[in-house]
Amino acid sequence: MIPIWGKKFWIYCILVAFFFLLVTLQVFLELGRFEKQKKARALLQDVQKHTESRPIGYTEKHNPHEVFDHGMNKYPIMLWWSPLTGESGRLGQCERGTCFFTINRTYYENPMTKAFLFYGTDFNIDNLPLPRKSYHEWALFHEESPKNNYKLFHPPAITLFNHTATFSQHSHLPLTSQYLENLQSLKSYQFMVPIQNKNMLRRRLAPLVYVQSDCDPPSDRDTYVGELMKFIAVDSYGDCLHNRDLPDQVNNPSSMDDAQFYRILAQYKFILAFENAVCDDYITEKLWRPLKLGVVPVYYGAPNVMDWLPSNKSAIVVNRFFSPRELAEHIKQMDTNDTLYMEYLEWKLQDRISNTKLVSAIRDRKWGVQDITQENYIDAFECMVCNKVWDNMHLKDKGLPAKQWKAESSHLNCPGPELFPFMPRHTSRSSMRDMWKPSFQQSRKEAKALRILVERNKNFTNQEFWNLVFKSGSE
Ligand SMILES: *[C@@H]1O[C@H](CO)[C@@H](O)[C@H](O)[C@H]1NC(C)=O
Ligand SMILES: *[C@@H]1O[C@H](CO)[C@@H](O)[C@H](O)[C@H]1NC(C)=O
Ligand SMILES: *[C@@H]1O[C@H](CO)[C@@H](O)[C@H](O)[C@H]1NC(C)=O
Ligand SMILES: *[C@@H]1O[C@H](CO)[C@@H](O)[C@H](O)[C@H]1NC(C)=O
Ligand SMILES: *[C@@H]1O[C@H](CO)[C@@H](O)[C@H](O)[C@H]1NC(C)=O
Repeated sequence: MIPIWGKKFWIYCILVAFFFLLVTLQVFLELGRFEKQKKARALLQDVQKHTESRPIGYTEKHNPHEVFDHGMNKYPIMLWWSPLTGESGRLGQCERGTCFFTINRTYYENPMTKAFLFYGTDFNIDNLPLPRKSYHEWALFHEESPKNNYKLFHPPAITLFNHTATFSQHSHLPLTSQYLENLQSLKSYQFMVPIQNKNMLRRRLAPLVYVQSDCDPPSDRDTYVGELMKFIAVDSYGDCLHNRDLPDQVNNPSSMDDAQFYRILAQYKFILAFENAVCDDYITEKLWRPLKLGVVPVYYGAPNVMDWLPSNKSAIVVNRFFSPRELAEHIKQMDTNDTLYMEYLEWKLQDRISNTKLVSAIRDRKWGVQDITQENYIDAFECMVCNKVWDNMHLKDKGLPAKQWKAESSHLNCPGPELFPFMPRHTSRSSMRDMWKPSFQQSRKEAKALRILVERNKNFTNQEFWNLVFKSGSE
């Protein structure tokens, strides 16, 4: 009896252990693949934007090294510690002076190298520019979702930088409105469907539409939407919670141009606008698109979204509802009462954006979105750093003390991911859903280790870094 039971037990244990190993491996592989794809796409887009929208008067020299050598020791060097711009060297004219921008790391040794520019998504502990000399300013450009590179989101890491451009309104160059090209587009009637037509369309369409193909992100939106679906109908066209196919003429990548797709979305009364992460000021096209189309967004994401909405009655804010059931009740009420529904479109129909914070953010930003007459945000970031470096050089010439710059922890600050207490619709094999919390917790240790190693001010190996991360874990 006992030996047989014992043998069974051990076989069982080994099987369970093996299973866990497989699942973990699979999750890491998926995570890696996913991040890589996303990065490649993002980099490509940004570089395209960057090169397409160079404004008139922006100096572009074709033989950068020659030009630079002529003006040797004249221009401060801004060294991109990232392949982001792909520029081997370029003299750029900013308000306060000219700087030389390059991704060529041989300039690390050059005494004119005053600033290192980092791109958050590919910020890597490998090969940091150490030792960091006293005149080396570090600047971080990080416009992407908080889920890319968690370790930067903790005080020990973010405060290593002198300058920041992030989605946070507290950053030195806030990119909060990066997905909104202008206020005019918000007020547009181009795709708007009158309420009478929407009511007729309700015979074959759900009141709500959801289109998401990046499933199980840190915000756990698919779990919430899955629960909501128990109480109200949702047409879901994306990969996540898919229950409806796009019409044939659109259901093929080449014919799915934006306008055709927008026309489909615009037929709905409500669009589920759920961000992939929950973080103050992290607002994407998911919020702006429904507003542009004349559809009421049901928004989940930035807890401070009210700071950015065109008016205080332009979106249904999910956080205000106790449960998906309660939210569904509210939406049903609006669905059956046109007066209630139209109150949420009044700001558009009356051509009135009452949020002065939004208006001034768009008016005052020094960069454009899809606008070739303006600098893009990468150029604006480069010039922000270049200008600050020149300001300090001028102060030094006058014998005055340099101005100190330091990132605050508020420049990149997100609460850790939380799961909703509902059963997810489908527990996928390699659930990313369970990865975000441990990954965020570990990133806290990574941030601490990074801080210690950077302050030691010597280059370090991957091995040293991970040893430190796991040592601090066993404290
Ligand atoms: C990097 O710059 C050095 C001069 O500092 C130059 O000799 C080298 O060819 C450059 N490398 C690339 C890839 O442009
Ligand atoms: C919403 O805006 C209106 C007009 O701007 C204002 O009178 C009202 O007090 C605001 N309501 C809230 C809850 O902020
Ligand atoms: C619709 O909502 C408006 C505004 O709250 C209210 O005055 C009206 O009585 C409602 N109509 C119906 C049929 O419930
Ligand atoms: C940049 O940050 C470093 C580290 O915090 C600091 O030593 C240095 O003085 C800062 N430089 C400027 C110009 O503020
Ligand atoms: C630090 O950099 C030097 C010079 O590039 C290199 O020889 C050395 O191996 C590096 N040390 C570590 C720990 O990476």
